[in-house]
Amino acid sequence: LARGGAESDLAGRHVVVSAGGTREYLDPVRFLGNRSSGLQGYALARAAVSRGARVTLVSANVTLAAPAGVDVVAVETTEQLRAAVLAATAEADAVVMAAAPADFRPTNRSENKIKKAADGSAPALELEQNPDILAEISHHRARAGQVVVGFAAETGDASGSVLELGRSKLARKGCDLLVVNDVSGGAVFGSERNDVVILAADGDAVDVPEGSKVSVAHAIWDAVAPRLA
Ligand code: CTP
Ligand code: CA
Repeated sequence: LARGGAESDLAGRHVVVSAGGTREYLDPVRFLGNRSSGLQGYALARAAVSRGARVTLVSANVTLAAPAGVDVVAVETTEQLRAAVLAATAEADAVVMAAAPADFRPTNRSENKIKKAADGSAPALELEQNPDILAEISHHRARAGQVVVGFAAETGDASGSVLELGRSKLARKGCDLLVVNDVSGGAVFGSERNDVVILAADGDAVDVPEGSKVSVAHAIWDAVAPRLA
């Protein structure tokens, strides 16, 4: 295990971690979802407990067992995730947004199951944008000195490399740290391993050696701990 920090460097701290992917319902049985196993968020929660923290884990549609010693709040939609994260964050020393919130939701949610049309036509989906939770908690800190961490899964495109996109996302979101993941090819989804760079608003960049999601979790807490107020 690659560990820089002390065994109990999060003792007396309350941290909030979000995990999983949100679902936005079209009707009672169908949803638009975001792909996320929740493995990295759960590993973060477990690692924080092992370093002495009190942990609230806001968990969206994850099938993993609740980690021992963690307060789990189950949510489904991005609005529910927002409400739970904001409530838990009011008293938190650090917040890590490892969840993948769906960016859009159907403008209308049908009360009844949508039926197929007899003529074979498909319904048009009207979508609206969900609130940006990370930007909100970053720009309106519940406590002075609260450390806010975001994740970015990027593939890189014509507008920039994975790291360039990460730098501009970090600035746009206003968080302290951004954990940037290169997901070209979809390799990390559901995988036990991860390969990330942790970018800091103060200019720092830590290239975390490829490893288990647990070792990546500890690298993230190693970056958070010295920044705590
Ligand atoms: N995030 C959030 N609320 C949203 C969307 C994203 O809090 N509605 C958080 C994620 O939990 C993650 C970070 O923002 O920590 C970056 O997510 P990402 O999807 O990369 O950012 P977006 O701003 O949605 O940008 P993109 O258009 O690339 O999806
Ligand atoms: Ca997004």
